[in-house]
Amino acid sequence: MPRYERTYTTQANFILHGGDYNPDQWLDRPDILQADLELMKLSHINTLTVGVFAWSALEPEEGVYRFEWLDKVFDDIYSIGGRVILATPSGARPAWLSKKYPEVLRVNAERVRQLHGGRHNHCFTSSVYREKTQHINRLLAERYGDHPALLMWHVSNEYGGECHCNLCQEAFREWLKKKYNHDLDALNAAWWTSFWSHTYTDWAQIESPSPIGEHTIHGLNLDWKRFVTDQTISFFENEIVPLRELTPHIPITTNFMADTHDLIPFQGLDYSKFAKHLDVISWDAYPAWHNDWESTADLAMKVGFINDLYRSLKQQPFLLMECTPSLVNWHKVNKAKRPGMHFLSSMQMIAHGSDSILYFQWRKSRGSFEKFHGAVVDHDNRTDNRVFQEVTKVGKMLKKMSGIVGTSRPAEVAILYDWENNWALNDVQGFAAETKRYPQTLVQHYRAFWEHDIPVDVITKEHDFSRYRLLIAPMLYLVSEELIARLKEFVANGGTLVMTYISGIVDEHDLAYLTGWHQDLREMFGMEPIETDTLYPNDRNSVHYRGRSYELKDYATVIKVQTATIEGVYEEDFYANTPAVTSNQYGKGQAYYIGGRLEDQFHRDFYQVLMEKLNLRPILFVKHGKGVSVQARQAPECDYVFIMNFTEEKQTVVLEEKVKNLFTDKEIGGEIILDKYEVLVVEKKREIHSNNKSIK
Ligand code: GAL
Repeated sequence: MPRYERTYTTQANFILHGGDYNPDQWLDRPDILQADLELMKLSHINTLTVGVFAWSALEPEEGVYRFEWLDKVFDDIYSIGGRVILATPSGARPAWLSKKYPEVLRVNAERVRQLHGGRHNHCFTSSVYREKTQHINRLLAERYGDHPALLMWHVSNEYGGECHCNLCQEAFREWLKKKYNHDLDALNAAWWTSFWSHTYTDWAQIESPSPIGEHTIHGLNLDWKRFVTDQTISFFENEIVPLRELTPHIPITTNFMADTHDLIPFQGLDYSKFAKHLDVISWDAYPAWHNDWESTADLAMKVGFINDLYRSLKQQPFLLMECTPSLVNWHKVNKAKRPGMHFLSSMQMIAHGSDSILYFQWRKSRGSFEKFHGAVVDHDNRTDNRVFQEVTKVGKMLKKMSGIVGTSRPAEVAILYDWENNWALNDVQGFAAETKRYPQTLVQHYRAFWEHDIPVDVITKEHDFSRYRLLIAPMLYLVSEELIARLKEFVANGGTLVMTYISGIVDEHDLAYLTGWHQDLREMFGMEPIETDTLYPNDRNSVHYRGRSYELKDYATVIKVQTATIEGVYEEDFYANTPAVTSNQYGKGQAYYIGGRLEDQFHRDFYQVLMEKLNLRPILFVKHGKGVSVQARQAPECDYVFIMNFTEEKQTVVLEEKVKNLFTDKEIGGEIILDKYEVLVVEKKREIHSNNKSIK
C-alpha cells in the first residue's frame, strides 16, 4: 500500500552532487588543489568522497601519521559550503604493511599467496590487518568526527573477493562447527558427502573449494560463499567499531557493485545480508551506454531493475556513489556518453531512488591505471568542454530538486531476487551450462512493468511479502520449507504469486526434496511439475496462450494438473497439448505457474492480464511509445515524475493531467515532444484532505 513518508539517508536536505576526490595524488601541486575549489563551485559540487585509497599518504611509515593535508582538504571543502564523505582506507594498503606482515596478502583458490600490488586484495581474517585498519579508522574518527563538513562514512571500497589462506581455512572450519553444532555427521548429511567417498571424519580435512581440489560438493560450495559474505561483514564490523563508538551520529555506508556486462547484481557477496549492517545503501553504476549489443532502452531497463533491487534492500533512498560523467577505462570499448546521456542517466538514478549523483572521479589522474578514466575535470583543467558543462547542468538542476530528498517509491509489485539461489543455480550440474541466467530471467519479468511505468520493488526473501499485491518469484530453485510456508501464507491471504520452471527443487542445503514437489507448493499451485526438459540453444517450442502462439526456448516443464486451471499449453514435442501455464485459486489468492522460458511478448500479455485484474497503475498516466520510461518518487504532498526518452529518436508523449515542469516551473500537459535522450521532471500535486492526510 502506498507510503509517503520521507526517509533521509543522510542529514543533508539536498541531493548530493560530487564524488571521489583524490587530493592525495596532488599534494605537490597546491595550485591544482586551489583550482579544484573554484571548479567545484562552478560545477555546483557539494559533496566530496575523500581518502578512499589514501593510506600511504596518511601513514607513510608504520606509526608515522600525516593528517595535515587532510585537515586542509576538510577545511577547504567546508569553506566552499561542501560536505565530506570520509572513506576508511582499507581498500588498498601501503607497501610497508604487506612487506612487514605478509599474512595480510590474499591467497587464491589455487593456494598461491599473492604479491603486493593492485587493491581490494587483503585477507579478511588476518588479525594484523583487522588491527591496523581499526587503528587508522580510530584516528580518523577522533580527528574528523566533529568536523562540521563530515557527512558520512564510506567504509573501504567495493568489498569483494575471497582469501583461501590458512587463517581463512581455520575461520571457515570454526564457522562450520558453529553452523552444524559441532556435529560432523550433520555436516556430512547436509553436504551429501557419502557421494564419491567424500565423507569427512575430521574437521581438519575440510578445505575451501578449489579448482585443484574439492569443488564437486554443492553444499560445501554454498556454505563457502555464505562464509565469505559473513567473513567480509565481520571484517567490516571490525572496521566500524571506532566509528560507531566515536561518531554514532554519522551514517555508515560501503559502496556496492554490479557485474558489468549484463548489469546484474554483484554475485560475490550476499548483499541482502550486508545491507542489514549499513545505514545507507550506496552503489557504483557503470552501464555501458551506447554499446553494440542492446538498445539504449533495454539497457535503461536493466539499470532500472538493479536500482529497484538496491533501493529495496533497505526500503529507503540509496546513494549513487560512483558513476562516470563521460567514459570508463575498463569496458572492452570505452565509449563516451553521447550528449544528453549524462543528464538523462543521472535523472534515471534519482527517479529510481537515489539521493545523489556522485562521480568517479573529480579530477583525472595524471598517471597510472586510471589516467584515461572519465572525470569531471580533465588533464587540461578546462571548463568549456562538453563533460564539464553537462556536469554543471546536472548540478544546477539537482538544486531545484531538493524536495525529492528522502522520498519513497511505494510499489505494489515485487520481484524476488535471492543471492543464495543464484549461487546454487550457477553451481548445479544439470539443466544447461550457459542458459540458467537467473538474474537475467528476473529482468525479463521486470520488463512488462517497466514498459507500463508500474513501480516494482525487487526484494529479497526476508522482506515482508504482505505489503505487495503481486509477487513474482521466477526460477526459485533453492527454497527452504520456511520460505515455502511464507509464500503459502501470502497467497492464502489474498496475494497473487507467479512462479516458473526450475522452482522449488532443493532445500537450503541444496538437497533435493524427496517427495516430488513440496506438498505446500502442490496445494498452492494445484499442479505438479513432473520433469524439466532442457533445450539446445537452437531448439524451439511454443506455447499457446489466450489465442496466440509464443516462442519457447531453453526450458520447458512437463506439468500434471490437479485443481489448477490450464491457461496455456505446449505446442510441440512429446508434451504437445499438455499444460504449460496454469493458475490456481488458493485461499483468498491466486498462484500462477509458467512452465517454460517464453519470449518477451508472452510476459507483456500475461502480465497485462494481471495488471488489469489487480488494477495496477502508473503514478502518472503518460501515453508514450517504446523506449520512454516514466518513473516516480512520492513525497507526502506531491509526486515527482520523471519522463525519460531512452531512444535515439524524438518521441511524442501525452500527459493527461496538468503538472509543473520542475526545471522551468511552467505548467505543462497534453502532447509534448521529447528530443532524443530528453528527460522531463514534473511535479504532480496530490489532493490533500481537510484532515490534512495525504491521499493518492
Ligand atoms: C570502481 C572503483 C573506483 C574506480 C572506478 C573506475 O569500481 O571503486 O575506485 O576504480 O571503479 O570505474
